[in-house]
Amino acid sequence: SSEYSMKILLLPGDGIGPEVLAEVRRVIDALNAHHGLGLSVENGDIGGASLDRHGTPLAPHVLEMAKASDAVLMGAVGGPKWQSVSYELRPEQGLLNLRKGLGLYANLRPALCFPALADASTLKRDVIDGLDILFVRELIGGVYFGEPRGIETLPDGTKRGFNTQSYTTPEIERVARMAFDLARQREGRVCSVEKANVMESGLLWRETVTALHKREFSDVALSHMYADNCAMQLVRDPRQFDVILTDNLFGDILSDAAAMLTGSLGMLPSAALGEPGMPGLYEPIHGSAPDIAGKCIANPCAAILSLAMALRHQLGRPDLADLTEKAVSHVLDSGYRTGDLLGGEDTRLVGTEGMGRAIAERLSA
Ligand code: NAI
Ligand code: MG
Repeated sequence: SSEYSMKILLLPGDGIGPEVLAEVRRVIDALNAHHGLGLSVENGDIGGASLDRHGTPLAPHVLEMAKASDAVLMGAVGGPKWQSVSYELRPEQGLLNLRKGLGLYANLRPALCFPALADASTLKRDVIDGLDILFVRELIGGVYFGEPRGIETLPDGTKRGFNTQSYTTPEIERVARMAFDLARQREGRVCSVEKANVMESGLLWRETVTALHKREFSDVALSHMYADNCAMQLVRDPRQFDVILTDNLFGDILSDAAAMLTGSLGMLPSAALGEPGMPGLYEPIHGSAPDIAGKCIANPCAAILSLAMALRHQLGRPDLADLTEKAVSHVLDSGYRTGDLLGGEDTRLVGTEGMGRAIAERLSA
């Protein structure tokens, strides 16, 4: 209806996906009712849920619905039920096809420290207090996709496995441009990470980022770091970073390590973005958690914070993104904890719905 100016497609998927997205729905309802968000919601199938219903992990009509939306928010896909289906029908294939279909080349992963959870980190509070890093990882190029690749048998009977790390200047430029743009909305600092000392693709990465910076983004502070040093610096002094720009492989590893600086999988959102005008895909980084699915105890914060990223990066409401993140922080400060979060003093154990309701109520105040 006309009171809605934007549309989000919810893809609950499998396992705890539908449980956490029900709480996202509750938060959207609160933002619509109390903050004039104007966001309408559609639902679609993906993953195992789609396989069961449509015989494919991503039906063409769902991809069309995704393309026609302003943003897509996914729960999670996969689980033991679909373990033995053939490769092309695997639930994970639905996610890969969606990323490919939307041309999502940049993966945004924040590493944020919520004050109430700082003591749950394996690092000391004074090392991570106030931590706020944004990883921008190239998502559809590099060694995971480079050709040639394979396993071959050599004349002497031994085998050789090989992959190719490959980046073109346009592939580097488009993800670097996104990192610089995002840095302008933050502290204005980009650290570009590769191994230019031992890899030609890394050398081209460094040259390309440097040239783009000089041409278009000289107001942003650019530094370069080798990936191995970056791993050390993330553990030693993570607060030195604002935006970290890196390739697919290093980004996979470094963003996982950085995410764990601050605690639970249940708190970590992500976004995958493509060309301006294309809807991004927002999702918690956790999976379908078959071990707790159906028990109504999953932490919905990662999914709700993924909605906040959509509000900030795609739906033109950074104010409501801030408000939503503050509501999550406030609810944690008030002692609400799902089972995956460390107790602490004066805390109250709640389930998925209890956490979602507390956040939505805060947004309705
Ligand atoms: P997982 O993230 O589903 O679970 C790992 C551990 O973290 C489990 O003990 C789980 O209970 C816990 N956990 C995860 N999210 C939680 C939350 N929101 N609240 C409380 N606890 C939470 O990873 P796992 O076990 O390796 O994979 C399970 C399934 O999920 C597999 O089929 C896998 O392929 C799929 N998966 C899907 C992803 C996606 O949809 N993007 C990403 C990762 C895995
Ligand atoms: Mg990973």
